[in-house]
Amino acid sequence: MARRCSSSSNVAAALALASLLSLLLGLSHGQLQVGFYSRSCPGAESTVASVVRQAGASDPTILPALLRLQFHDCFVRGCDGSVLIKGGNNNAEVDNNKHQGLRGLDVIDGAKAQLEAQCPGVVSCADIVILAARDAVAFTGGPSFDVPTGRRDGKVSNLRDADTLPDVKDGIDALRAKFAANGLSSRDLVLLSAAHTVGTTACFFIQDRLYNTPLPGGGRGADPTIPPGFLAELRSRCAPGDLNTRLPLDRGSAGVFDTSILRNIRDGFAVIGSDAALYNATATVDVVDSYSGLLSNFFGPYFRQDFADAMVRMGSIGVVTGAKGEVRKVCSKFN
Ligand code: HEM
Repeated sequence: MARRCSSSSNVAAALALASLLSLLLGLSHGQLQVGFYSRSCPGAESTVASVVRQAGASDPTILPALLRLQFHDCFVRGCDGSVLIKGGNNNAEVDNNKHQGLRGLDVIDGAKAQLEAQCPGVVSCADIVILAARDAVAFTGGPSFDVPTGRRDGKVSNLRDADTLPDVKDGIDALRAKFAANGLSSRDLVLLSAAHTVGTTACFFIQDRLYNTPLPGGGRGADPTIPPGFLAELRSRCAPGDLNTRLPLDRGSAGVFDTSILRNIRDGFAVIGSDAALYNATATVDVVDSYSGLLSNFFGPYFRQDFADAMVRMGSIGVVTGAKGEVRKVCSKFN
């Protein structure tokens, strides 16, 4: 009897341990962990949120820029804050043309300055980028979600490393390959491109699409897949040679975090070429369709949760943890 009792209590203990472990595993991603700073710097997340909120209050366009910043950090050398480094000789990663128009780095610097005053040497710039993007999503009306933290800052920034960033001119195969190289699926490609539901693009990125695309019969002109009415609309916003005028990436629903970008992609109203390309291969067409049907909001997959999960997956690319890397004192400089 005593034996049976002790073996059943062993089983109960093992079960309790297993469920504790699965709880911990559920909350941690590799060596990252939700609430990593809860003891070492309890104000870390609220400080970043308040800096982002203030920045967004004085300039709402900074919120989409902060969301884009996570993509540009994570896709080059992983989410290690390398994009924040400023070099003297135009040879830092951030000087690469692929980062054209990147903004919000000063907001990250501002949050870092406050955090260094609160808890010196504790909160990495790489984590501040992730937290700021998460907050930017919520402040534009997107989902609120937990993000694991515990990244450290990388110690390398090379101009040429950013060459591999996805490009507006990439076809669907190239886009899928670049996401796959970072451990992300075709579904993630669609979900994360849907970040274009907020924010704008400079005409620079669509000049070739409007005026200089190689045509099947020879010569150059507009991308033939753009519906004529929409082409006229885009050309009226972006005259030939205009590089600076900005227009919403999500036609008719700028600044609102919703699935309208996916319906626009489905209906031929994608503004940049890489968004249009998402409707060129079955693997991504099916994903676009699954979120953009009439009844998707009721019966389809849940876009807001799926987007948040994809952000967390993107935030896990190539992270530096443990004793590797460093925690920078100033985000734009190595220690
Ligand atoms: C699939 C490959 C992608 C390409 C080729 C691409 C390209 C671009 C381009 C050309 C712009 C306009 C930049 C400007 O003129 O300032 C832009 C803006 C933006 N991108 Fe992407 N993007 C991609 C994926 C992503 C991902 C994965 C995210 C984040 C999850 C993202 C978030 C944004 C946001 C929020 C903006 C608006 C920025 C602003 O208004 O300042 N993009 N993207």
